[in-house]
Amino acid sequence: PTCEDLDPVRYITNRSSGKMGYAVAEAAARRGARVILITGPTALETPAGVERVDVRSAEDMRRAVQERFPQSSIAIFAAAVADYRPAEPHTQKLKRGKDELTLHLEPNPDILAEAARNKGDRLVVGFAAETDHVAENARKKLAAKNTDLIVANDVTAEGAGFDMDTNIVTLFARDGRDLPLPKLSKREVAERILDEVVRLRSAALPARPAVV
Ligand code: PMT
Repeated sequence: PTCEDLDPVRYITNRSSGKMGYAVAEAAARRGARVILITGPTALETPAGVERVDVRSAEDMRRAVQERFPQSSIAIFAAAVADYRPAEPHTQKLKRGKDELTLHLEPNPDILAEAARNKGDRLVVGFAAETDHVAENARKKLAAKNTDLIVANDVTAEGAGFDMDTNIVTLFARDGRDLPLPKLSKREVAERILDEVVRLRSAALPARPAVV
């Protein structure tokens, strides 16, 4: 998740535990990748062999991604980034009063779309957290955010989405392949995402000349 501060004691966030993103980082490291994990606040331990970069807000995450994206060959965006942040965060605690309080929110940057705009030959994977019209919305995100793969989850389905040890996802690939997966552990989902990444990468690589 990201946390968007309203004042020194209050903030806006969401129900993401980080389990899905950490599972992907762990699986990639186990396969031998050099992994940089840019993470919002979670209670999870850093997976073995992973370089962890802690951030708090979407703006922090954006800067960390901008700094590291150029070094990457594969970028996977599993974070639940707050779409809005308080327009005027207060430096002192807001006092309780009798009147209604209206919060003015402004949009956060779309970190994935910004990074993927100039992705070159990097392979970029996004997620889509949906509550309705999952396939339609996921395909729109695949194109709008210039990704190679979108991992779509219906976060209202039992056993899927936020703060669960399992997930139910469909992988929508740029080359038109849709791969619906059954309910799996987040660890297993991470492996299946990486299998699809490997498939897309192999298809993109020039055919090697035969050795005779
Ligand atoms: O953390 P867990 O408890 O394990 O839960 C897992 C999960 C539900 C958070 C995960 O499976 C998931 O769906 N992650 C994406 C959540 C999300 O923000 O989805 P979205 O459909 O709003 O965003 C689409 C894509 O754009 C995502 O890749 C997101 O990281 C990215 N994004 C969104 C908004 C924004 N301002 N910047 C972004 O980069």
